Amino acid sequence: MWERRSRFDEIQQLNTKPVQPPKVMHHPYATRRATSDCRYVTVMFRGLSRFLRTNPVSVQRRMSHSSLDGKVAIVTASTDGIGLAAAQALGKRGAHVVVSSRRQANVDKAVALLKSQSIRVTGTTCNVGKGEDREKLVQLTVDQCGGIDILVSNAAVNPFFGNILDSTEDVWDKILSVNVKAAFLLTKLVVPHMEKRGGGNVIFVSSVGGYQPMQGLGPYCVSKTALLGLTRALAPELAHSNIRVNCVAPGVIKTRFSSALWENKDIVDELKKQLSIKRIGEPEEIGGTIAFLCSDDASYITGETVTVTGGMSCRL
Ligand SMILES: NC(=O)c1ccc[n+]([C@@H]2O[C@H](COP(=O)([O-])OP(=O)(O)OC[C@H]3O[C@@H](n4cnc5c(N)ncnc54)[C@H](OP(=O)(O)O)[C@@H]3O)[C@@H](O)[C@H]2O)c1
Repeated sequence: MWERRSRFDEIQQLNTKPVQPPKVMHHPYATRRATSDCRYVTVMFRGLSRFLRTNPVSVQRRMSHSSLDGKVAIVTASTDGIGLAAAQALGKRGAHVVVSSRRQANVDKAVALLKSQSIRVTGTTCNVGKGEDREKLVQLTVDQCGGIDILVSNAAVNPFFGNILDSTEDVWDKILSVNVKAAFLLTKLVVPHMEKRGGGNVIFVSSVGGYQPMQGLGPYCVSKTALLGLTRALAPELAHSNIRVNCVAPGVIKTRFSSALWENKDIVDELKKQLSIKRIGEPEEIGGTIAFLCSDDASYITGETVTVTGGMSCRL
């Protein structure tokens, strides 16, 4: 009964007295400041929401750990296939990408494509097997883009198909020179520039064949296994300079390089038996993984190889 009356009194009181907001600031200056703070916050939010409405992608990029805004990325062999997809993925996250390959016509085409996608891009020819080309690529990047933050070493060749015992010294020289030695020498060239920027990222593009050599591709697959070792060897040394070193091992991806595999229905059917995801991969699926590894989302990952194979088993 008492409780009921007191609740009734409370309600009566509420009905008669207008409810005042709790006073938190008593000093007149505090009130004035609160009003101007309020105005300031309102203006800020108005500005931010206008910016979000007009430029949502850029804001999202800037606010997220996957952003590569302000970064400069060299991607080798990037006028087609996986290299081009990597350049697109890095560029879409805000990086200025430097694309290259051996043929000027291919470079021009890739630059035009990336520009049409609003990606900041510089293009030049570079055959990674040639020392002077590697030096030119690095110097041009520093001169035109102001520094280097990311290297994606993607170029590889395979001039031989057959039994490994039939491969010649020339074949081995070519494959190891382009696929392994050039990857290391290019890394050596970019490291001082990354150190000047306070850190960076190096990504090597290996292959599922680096884990399990494919029949007929012995020397090429051995070169891809070497990249797994190179990743492991470099990572601890470069961690002192805040440079992470990682590797991506694609499975069979739909590019010109692997067309002999995915254009042959019998081979595709055989391949599918080894895949959990029953399809050939797309270059963009490798590009996305590379961009992830270069971003702050992967800030605690170094010395690793990420296999992107649709579930093909990968064990050394
Ligand atoms: N596709 C797959 O299934 C697959 C699987 C595992 C690993 N990978 C690896 O992925 C990387 C890229 O292969 P991809 O399939 O994307 O090949 P792709 O589509 O055939 O593209 C090859 C690119 O490399 C350039 N290139 C070739 N030789 C070069 C050299 N010596 N120096 C500089 N650029 C060169 C080509 O342009 P130019 O002709 O103008 O030089 C082209 O832009 C390679 O390391 C490959 O081993 C591919």
